[in-house]
Amino acid sequence: MQAPSAPAHVAFSAREPKINQLESNLSEEFILETRGLTKEFKGFVAVNSVDLKVQRGHIHALIGPNGAGKTTFFNLLTKFLTPTRGSIVFNGNDITTEKPAQTARRGIVRSFQISAVFPHMTVLENVRAALQRNLGTSFHFWKAEDTLFHLHERARALLAEVDLSNFADELTVNLPYGRKRALELATTLALEPELMLLDEPTQGMGHEDVDRVTQLIKKVSVGRTILMVEHNMNVVSSIANRITVLQRGAIIADGPYAEVSQNPQVIEAYMGTANTELQGAH
Ligand SMILES: Nc1ncnc2c1ncn2[C@@H]1O[C@H](COP(=O)(O)OP(=O)(O)OP(=O)(O)O)[C@@H](O)[C@H]1O
Ligand SMILES: [Mg+2]
Repeated sequence: MQAPSAPAHVAFSAREPKINQLESNLSEEFILETRGLTKEFKGFVAVNSVDLKVQRGHIHALIGPNGAGKTTFFNLLTKFLTPTRGSIVFNGNDITTEKPAQTARRGIVRSFQISAVFPHMTVLENVRAALQRNLGTSFHFWKAEDTLFHLHERARALLAEVDLSNFADELTVNLPYGRKRALELATTLALEPELMLLDEPTQGMGHEDVDRVTQLIKKVSVGRTILMVEHNMNVVSSIANRITVLQRGAIIADGPYAEVSQNPQVIEAYMGTANTELQGAH
């Protein structure tokens, strides 16, 4: 005899008896959840009671006008800043009070910042250095010959993943801008992120580089989850599964691009900037 299974909408409304089951189902579907997350700077509310859910495997875009609180929100997730109120749940664990290093070890990694690259090392050396950082400081562990060999192999594989194999022995300082960003992506991947946070990954790029980095983000998103701040709506509409719009620290819209881009409040929020329509946001 098979027990009849409740339809999804019933499961979601059956609060009391199934709450634990419900919580664990939710943490499987959503890798990250913030509840009432708030950051005040001397009374100024930069992030205002944000309830955000990021679905596992998604590329989730966080957009909003300048000063909306996007970077501050990222800084809360990486523990660079301490929230004034609210909580952060990652993989079902409340990580609100954890230290930045603990959060990074759990797999929340921000790119284009902690993974800064060294200009006078080669591309391959930079990726190896990132892998060594990830191994920690145990000298005895990685001095072993086979560990070094493994590092080398892994570094080559990461370069291939971001289409940089042909640049392996090039000095990083000589790389074109878009390729440097690809290298930064590789050094982030070296940290084995489960959730990657990208803050304006295509900023300052020409069309060609924007396209290349966009495709790269799509490619490396396989098997991972990405939360990205992005001003370029072409990028957002082409790769984001879901979009959350922040304005003055608070969420004003959340959903797929087609829906969010039609939202009058969102259009108005963007008209407050130099852009006259959402499509034209730089
Ligand atoms: N350390 C701080 N102390 C005081 N105010 C801050 C601090 N950090 C950020 N702010 C303020 O919080 C607000 C949100 O800033 P934030 O950098 O998060 O915006 P953003 O959405 O990332 O903007 P942009 O699109 O320009 O990058 C701004 O008004 C900013 O001046
Ligand atoms: Mg910002």
